[in-house]
Amino acid sequence: MIRAAITAVNGYVPDYVLTNDEIATMVDTNDEWIMSRTGIKERHILKGEGNGVSVMCVEAANGLLKKRGISALDIDMLIVATVTPDMVFPATANVVCDKIGATNAWGFDLGAACSGFLFALATASKFIETGTHKKVMVIGADKMSSIINYEDRATCIIFGDGAGAVLLEPTTEDVGIMDSILKSDGSGRQYLYQKAGGSAYPPTEKTIAAKEHFVHQEGQTVFKFAVTNMAQVSAEIMERNKLKSNDVNYLLAHQANKRIIDATANRMGVGEEKVLMNIERYGNTTSGTIPLLMHDFEKQFKKGDNIIISTFGGGFTWGSIYLKWAY
Ligand SMILES: CC(C)(COP(=O)(O)OP(=O)(O)OC[C@H]1O[C@@H](n2cnc3c(N)ncnc32)[C@H](O)[C@@H]1OP(=O)(O)O)[C@@H](O)C(=O)NCCC(=O)NCCS
Repeated sequence: MIRAAITAVNGYVPDYVLTNDEIATMVDTNDEWIMSRTGIKERHILKGEGNGVSVMCVEAANGLLKKRGISALDIDMLIVATVTPDMVFPATANVVCDKIGATNAWGFDLGAACSGFLFALATASKFIETGTHKKVMVIGADKMSSIINYEDRATCIIFGDGAGAVLLEPTTEDVGIMDSILKSDGSGRQYLYQKAGGSAYPPTEKTIAAKEHFVHQEGQTVFKFAVTNMAQVSAEIMERNKLKSNDVNYLLAHQANKRIIDATANRMGVGEEKVLMNIERYGNTTSGTIPLLMHDFEKQFKKGDNIIISTFGGGFTWGSIYLKWAY
């Protein structure tokens, strides 16, 4: 049986650090409120005119190729999970393939908000498992600063920019992606969305004046759905794979809010030493959170470790992947 194994990981965040204290000069908030409600201390922001999300994808991708010691020409397929593509079209995946020289690869973008990377990883794994593709790169990246209203204290405190990339390759060993549960419910779309800029409400002076090109979020509602669904799907994947809490080595949960992550860990019965977090430094980078976690904690993973990845995001979209670390 062929499984898809993650064989390399890399992450990238831009240099500029936006601290809680700096945000407190922009809106009526403070470091203590933000830390206690979200666990976020600072986030990174990509500056520079014309610098879209592909800039961060390219950094993550080139570092990944170097770490694995392969050429861009070896890549068969590249998926970019993002809600902040460089442009509506062409796909950012095409832009990235061109910039890194992956001329043998085909690719596309996948939009599932904060579950984007998880959905992309599950999708990519199928191309490996069927034997048709040998090296697939999956990137999760968002430049959230491009769609955040820095006059809205309820959203601007949460989000940041960042990217992470993984390489998937086939293995016949008992490691890699073991199982996935993927869910979505479009009736949740009213609670977390960017109204304008798509085909329903193309950009006009009116949409700009109404600030409809920014993220709109009903925080409390999203919070309740996130807590319930992320905890539920994480428990479900453990049950389906007969994993007890002692069997789980690490939980990699979408970094949206420390309180949501804690609730998920509680439901799974895993202690805080197994719950990996970097939300304090990056905030919510949407599609970037899970590969950035893998990048930051890669050194402590051992071959065969049981890892549960869980996400929740706009859409609503949510899900879990059970994987055994492959190196
Ligand atoms: C956004 C979020 C942090 C707000 O925290 P909360 O505890 O729900 O706060 P509320 O929205 O109930 O607001 C409570 C009060 O704090 C105020 N407040 C909101 N943001 C604030 C800020 N940055 N600083 C200070 N006060 C703030 C509100 O105005 C409100 O004041 P009021 O009681 O006088 O009306 C929280 O709802 C959340 O994390 N939601 C989920 C977000 C998420 O995970 N999104 C991504 C999913 S992928």
